[in-house]
Amino acid sequence: MSFGLARGKQLDTSGVGFTREDLPPIPGPGAPAHAQWIDPRAWFEHPERPFELEVGSGKGTFLVQQAQLQPETNFLGIEYAGEFFRYAADRIRRNAIPNVKLLYHDATEFIRRVPDEVVTVLHLYFPDPWPKAKHHKRRSLNDAFLEQAHRILVPRGELRIVTDHPDYWAWMEEHFARWTVGEDARFERLPFTSPDSASEGEVVGTNFERKYVREGREFNSAVLKKR
Ligand SMILES: C[S@@+](CC[C@H](N)C(=O)[O-])C[C@H]1O[C@@H](n2cnc3c(N)ncnc32)[C@H](O)[C@@H]1O
Repeated sequence: MSFGLARGKQLDTSGVGFTREDLPPIPGPGAPAHAQWIDPRAWFEHPERPFELEVGSGKGTFLVQQAQLQPETNFLGIEYAGEFFRYAADRIRRNAIPNVKLLYHDATEFIRRVPDEVVTVLHLYFPDPWPKAKHHKRRSLNDAFLEQAHRILVPRGELRIVTDHPDYWAWMEEHFARWTVGEDARFERLPFTSPDSASEGEVVGTNFERKYVREGREFNSAVLKKR
């Protein structure tokens, strides 16, 4: 599948894209948790600025649109499909957006290497639904992900989620209940509010959202705010 990406076109990820080869190796067994930490804020010209992270950034549409409206925030998109990563990194480079970087990696693996409390907003838009039961373990959202999200978010930081998939939404609701209900709940659940970059009638305005709107799909969304 080419996903409508320009195959064979020379794409230049320089200055924007990071790959596994750019990361320090994972230390051996027995090393303390923090020995494997990588602080991606250091990849930006202004590492002291607020830092937002998008899991599964696809063609980079959300990042391109929102980062230009929030020039004083650093954004990292993590994408594990090479074609999407190269397309989005080239697009960000051509648009000369200094506050966006991309990482070619499995996001669920990488976030385990992110230090505690450095992310102000974690974005998860239209994650792959993996509809067959035997593939549910591949879904990005699960309890381990919510644990990591809670750890890397700053206090009152937000996890923002949108999906088009009814079964995945039911799965998410079950997970949210475990993390948002009760006195000891670690997140507060809030209604989703669209980012400024969304156009009239859009929830976020990502590539997949635009495709799914044309197919008449309905969307569900939530914000989990770290307590
Ligand atoms: C349905 S697409 C949505 C892309 C984009 N968020 C949008 O709304 O246009 C899901 C994307 O997430 C990426 N993805 C899925 N699981 C991932 C993971 N664990 N790490 C990094 N990328 C992932 C896929 O390669 C794909 O590009």
